[in-house]
Amino acid sequence: MRILAIESSCDETAAAVVEDGRKVLSSYVYTQIEIHKKYGGVVPEVASRNHLEKISFVVEEALLDAKCKLSDIDAIAVTYGPGLVGALFVGLNYAKGLAYANGIPLIPVNHMQGHIAASYLSYPDLEPPFLCLVVSGGHTYIANVKTYKDIEMIGTTRDDAVGEAYDKVARILGLEYPGGKKIDDLAKKGDKNFILFKRTYLDEKEENFDFSFSGIKSGVHNYIKKLEKNNENYKIEDIAASFQESVIDVLVYKTLKAMRKYKYDKLVLAGGVAANSRLREVISNYKDIIINKEKFSDLNFNVYYPEIRYCTDNAAMIGAQAFYRQDMMTKNFLDLDANCNLELE
Ligand code: KG4
Ligand code: ZN
Repeated sequence: MRILAIESSCDETAAAVVEDGRKVLSSYVYTQIEIHKKYGGVVPEVASRNHLEKISFVVEEALLDAKCKLSDIDAIAVTYGPGLVGALFVGLNYAKGLAYANGIPLIPVNHMQGHIAASYLSYPDLEPPFLCLVVSGGHTYIANVKTYKDIEMIGTTRDDAVGEAYDKVARILGLEYPGGKKIDDLAKKGDKNFILFKRTYLDEKEENFDFSFSGIKSGVHNYIKKLEKNNENYKIEDIAASFQESVIDVLVYKTLKAMRKYKYDKLVLAGGVAANSRLREVISNYKDIIINKEKFSDLNFNVYYPEIRYCTDNAAMIGAQAFYRQDMMTKNFLDLDANCNLELE
């Protein structure tokens, strides 16, 4: 089954052709990062306008790269939420028009479920059940992926998403949007023990898998202000490494506690922050680490992460999830609306 997938929930206009949920025939991503950089973050109206300008071109490129015509396409998948409402509208309305004009059914896809499906593209044999740590610019979840469609959120952030914390701290450090990758790179040259930022583990009861990242952002801000007030020199690399270590300690700690409870033999990472090199390194060495005075050598599971290009927003992941959500396939889609607050489940 060949699916043409379209994604436009934030600042990437993307289209892809995916076969049977696993094989990417093409994946084209047009990113608006250069446009939003000067504003320090995504400006919703500017994003919608640019999606509108690029969407036809992006879809045509994806079909060309896949050497496909529309007549070779069995279904059109499209992200209908969560995301910026104006941005979602562009992709959704384009997909509806294309599907209607060509008599092709439509599969609406949840963007966050799409992030989880990104790993299906890199691991042909990976199947649920598993736990998934979903870490993106707008969301932070620990998800219990029981089946391809039965996904339960067992933990989430109470304030900022982890990607948002990276982007805000990057801004404090004078780095351009989006700052996640820049902090990741700087941290490699810094001392992660330079300053011990407070880790927010929240309530440490076994059952609590929630996060909070707003405190760390203020922690970094206040620390830098103090250094500057005292005319003390500091290396931005050291601040980046110390900030990153505190965030990753919390992410990994909560995830490992959840793995201990749910006892799956697979842990999957998803979302833009899943590209982070230190997160991958720490979580892969879970048997040897100590976080919050706790060891995890009793656990036994394999870790799966998507290729970097499928961590950040793309349409291939939407095409992958759509294959497993054929229960959502419909020819009566004209009333289908975007849902900017769509939940994971
Ligand atoms: O999943 P994504 O492309 O968009 C959303 O659905 O939100 O994630 C984008 C986020 C941004 O906050 C960006 O700074 C972060 O992912 N990010 C990273 C890295 N690469 C991207 N954060 C930390 N380390 C990275 N290497
Ligand atoms: Zn995303």
